[in-house]
Amino acid sequence: NEELIWQRTAYHFQPFKNWMNGIVYNSALLTTGPLFYKGWYHLFYQYNPVSAVWGNITWGHAVSHDLINWLHLPLAMVPDHWYDMNGVWTGSATFLPDGSLVMLYTGSTNESAQVQNLAYPADPSDPLLLNWVKSKANPVLVPPPGIGSKDFRDPTTAWFIESDNSWRVMIGSRNGMTGFSLVYKTKDFVEYELLDGVLHAVPGTGMWECVDFYPVSTTGNGGLDTSANGLGVKHVLKVSLDNYMNDYYAIGTYDARANTWTPDDPVADAGIGARVDYGKYYASKSFFDQNKGRRVLWSWIGETDSEQTDLRKGWASVQTIPRVVTFDEKTKTNLLQWPVEEVEALRTDAKDFSHVKVNPGSVVPLDVGTATQLDIEAEFVIDEAELVGTVEADVGYNCSTSAGAAGRSALGPFGLLVLADKDLLEQTAVYFYIGRAIDGSLKTYFCQDELRSSKAKDLVKRVHGSMVPVLHGEKLSVRILVDHSVVESFGQGGRTCITSRVYPTKAIYGAARVFLFNNATEAVVTATSVRVWGMNAASVPTMLS
Ligand code: FRU
Repeated sequence: NEELIWQRTAYHFQPFKNWMNGIVYNSALLTTGPLFYKGWYHLFYQYNPVSAVWGNITWGHAVSHDLINWLHLPLAMVPDHWYDMNGVWTGSATFLPDGSLVMLYTGSTNESAQVQNLAYPADPSDPLLLNWVKSKANPVLVPPPGIGSKDFRDPTTAWFIESDNSWRVMIGSRNGMTGFSLVYKTKDFVEYELLDGVLHAVPGTGMWECVDFYPVSTTGNGGLDTSANGLGVKHVLKVSLDNYMNDYYAIGTYDARANTWTPDDPVADAGIGARVDYGKYYASKSFFDQNKGRRVLWSWIGETDSEQTDLRKGWASVQTIPRVVTFDEKTKTNLLQWPVEEVEALRTDAKDFSHVKVNPGSVVPLDVGTATQLDIEAEFVIDEAELVGTVEADVGYNCSTSAGAAGRSALGPFGLLVLADKDLLEQTAVYFYIGRAIDGSLKTYFCQDELRSSKAKDLVKRVHGSMVPVLHGEKLSVRILVDHSVVESFGQGGRTCITSRVYPTKAIYGAARVFLFNNATEAVVTATSVRVWGMNAASVPTMLS
């Protein structure tokens, strides 16, 4: 089928075929230390080598110089010991001070219990890290008393605590519906001591998968090494809730001595914080990129079509474009996520549309040529007088329960339609919606509407999104990466992010178009600037084994 073939991405990472899920480990750039002489970013991912559905989990492996163009390498680790016979699951890498590398990962044993295993490069002088040795000491950690044998997985990158000269590793777990993270202390990654208490626990959340714990600078000092702490540092806790298949994060303060972490806002969503991304996005992980002094966040984007269709396609899932993640110094309440600058090297054929007025109830086509691989940056203002003049209270807007781009109110929705055919029978809307609270204050929402994205059957289509902070004097801004069946959107510089999988049947190949739209009943919207670039395909060859 033409449309199934069209769905493969051009610049989002994916294997040539079969199933992929979470990133296996905090992909790491190997530039420093005496053992690695050439800088390669390594991506290890959860891979089923024989089918487009989950199972037989091994480590797929690819390397890159720029996080965009990849070289596929042979499988890095396969299930071949009793302690990982049912799968070589998620893990994380840690660089030791001498530049060497250790890898901790979860094995699902021959009895499907979850244990933690240690591995290291067979030849540390090989920059491609083709071969891995599993430690004779495996498994190095088994579920502690009181923890279910299937509730103990996904060790983090370790961070170093100078006061007791040892490392900490976090592992997600649960007790009934209370999800939490356990912290272990280790000096050698072979022997571990479970620290008292849990770093954080949230009732009602269920199992915590792929926990991530990392420092962010509150003073604009770029990304921080995972062991950084002290003045001007806050710590982000991220959890993946498998009951909902969503990632959440909160920003807080870490006290290493007491083994506690206190969220800045303990009441926000019951202590679990905000969504990392409001769309189809799961099992994200970050790593410190010492080459560029930034923290990079990756995530798995699954499918929202049926398993049957995935089997017909022969593949399932892609990875996000890696995002730089920083603390938002303006709001001080959220992170900012932004695609790594390297993706901009794929931009071609820029088109500018400035000062386009979009009247209530109208659409404006943007002539951008082929519109299946795009990078879009747009800014909008709406007439202040309209804002002030609108008195109707419009409380409690919720993207997910709204009618999406088809709903109408005084001040929204308005934004862009991507992957739309000329008759707008298919369209994915990326939009803002401004609501007024009873006290008269305005709240801005950033949403993505998949409801009319495709005429195909057996799809999960939703409206995603949430409130987005807009500070006084700021324009409304959006960045959208369109790549065939993926739409990744960033509201207000990455304060709120939304990723969708969409599967148009008409708006494909040369029939895909882009529009500005304004479905508000009153507000006149001006797109003060819209830049649209075509995106070249990334190069992703395979090194044969
Ligand atoms: C996340 C996850 C992890 C596990 C792995 C198995 O999607 O379920 O918890 O380690 O994937 O493939």
